[in-house]
Formats: sequence, C-alpha cells, structure tokens
Amino acid sequence: MTAPTPPVLPDAATLADLRALAERAARAAGALVRDGRPRQVDVSATKTSPVDVVTAMDLAAEELLRRTIAAHRPDDGILGEEGGLVPGTSGVTWVVDPIDGTVNYLYGIPAYAVSVAAVVGPPTPDEWTVVAGAVHAVADGRTYTAARGAGALLDGVPLQVNAPAALAQSLVGTGFGYTADRRRGQARVVAALLPQVRDIRRIGSAALDLCTLAGGGLDLYYERGLQPWDLAAASLVASEAGALVVGLRGARPGEAMTVAGPEPTVGELVRFLEEQRADTDEA
Ligand code: IPD
Repeated sequence: MTAPTPPVLPDAATLADLRALAERAARAAGALVRDGRPRQVDVSATKTSPVDVVTAMDLAAEELLRRTIAAHRPDDGILGEEGGLVPGTSGVTWVVDPIDGTVNYLYGIPAYAVSVAAVVGPPTPDEWTVVAGAVHAVADGRTYTAARGAGALLDGVPLQVNAPAALAQSLVGTGFGYTADRRRGQARVVAALLPQVRDIRRIGSAALDLCTLAGGGLDLYYERGLQPWDLAAASLVASEAGALVVGLRGARPGEAMTVAGPEPTVGELVRFLEEQRADTDEA
C-alpha cells in the first residue's frame, strides 16, 4: 500500500486570507447569535438524545456562515454541524459550528462560541489538514485565531500553553456526550482521574476548552465523542500555541478520543486514558 500524498498547503498569503475570512465569518455569526438571543431560547429539534438540542439560532447562524464564506470563496466546500457537506472544487473545505456550547446558550451561561476552520485535502476528518481557523467566544467577544505554522492569537496577542506540570498539579478540562451509554463510560474514567489531578473543569464548549488551554487557562484537556466541527478550528489554535493534540494508541484526535496539552504531561494523560480504555463506552 502506498502512503497517501500529503496535501499541498496554501502559501503564507493565502493562509492569512483564510484566517481573516474565518475570523470575519465567526464574528458576523457571533453578532447574530448574541443580538438575537431571546430571553427564552426555543429548541427547534433534538439530535442524538432529547438533551442534544438545536436552537433556531444554530440554523440561522450556520446559514449566515455559509453565505459569508460563499460570497468570498464560491469554489470552496462547506461542512456544517446542521447542514452537512456541500462539496467544493478548490481543495479547501470550511468546517463550521454555528454554536458550540448549545446547552450553555440555552441556559444563558456565557460559554458558547462560533467555530470556523479551513481544511485542505479530502473533506473527511481522518484525511484533511486544518490550515486556518477562528473561534469567537460570543458572550465576551474574544476571538481566537490560528494559521498553520503562523501561530495562535487571542485578539491579536500570541498564545502559549502552560509549561508542563505533573499530572497531580494539572487542571484538566473535559466534557461529556449526550447519551446515557456514553456518559456511563465517561463517568467511570473521570472518577478514576479526579483523585490524580489538581481538579477537573467542564466548561461546556469543546472549542472553548481547547482555546482556553491554548491561553494557559487549563493544563490538559481530553474528551471522547467530539465531532469534526467541535474540534477543527480549536485544535489548530491549541497546537499553534504549543500543545500536542492527539488521539489514543497513535490515532489522530477525533470522535474516539481527543487529548491536548504540552509534552511530556500530555503523554502521561494519554497513557492513563489508554489504560482506562477511555476510547470505548465500557461502563
Ligand atoms: C458540545 C460541546 C460540549 C461537548 C460536547 C459537544 P454542541 O457541542 O462542545 O462541550 O462536551 O461533546 O457535543 O452540541 O454544543 O455543539
């Protein structure tokens, strides 16, 4: 079997353009999401379980993201949480999440974000390379951006992960899925981890977890069950800020498991999660 040909990465000027468009689109959708939040948010549908909700604003904000991107780059593909994949012809696909942290949005907890990433290569998470992205924290207006090889910024200021600390001194972010079966396994893993770390945080937006880690607000992060749109932009922000972002047993980060943090501590967490079979739903 021949190894897959690595994708041709855009040049520096194109990367800068993709990063700027990701930021512009995320901010525009963020303004819609913020200004249009009614006192009582209506649930328009549910997905994997009755607590996995889609709000009317998820749908409207994704529509705006699609229109904004298509107006500037009509030949690119777009994969969105709500609307699926519309393939393009340019080799660039945008991976968008109109509201990451939907449950926080529903309850008025100010930790939700718009996530926009540009990827190159086949439009499947196991094969693409994320080249630029933006995560806009809607409630406080902060915007994290990154371009491959050009660093991660928070509102223009460079981001750097914390220096590695022992697991026992590490503040660890994580999240939980929406189904009872998934959560039984996640509860087992977090119960085993909690006595071994400084503390655990469950912020409620995977994109903000990874961006918070990029800025030193968490030491480590792991989660099973992330979707490509939760992960795409924020994983680039974290890795450009110096984190290793990986899966277990040599896999890429993704739905089975995503682990992030500085080396070598991230390796300690990976080993712990492998021993716990945290990439399964074993209860
Ligand atoms: C969810 C959030 C949450 C994570 C879940 C995700 P959504 O995304 O990122 O923090 O724990 O795994 O599904 O549903 O709000 O877009």
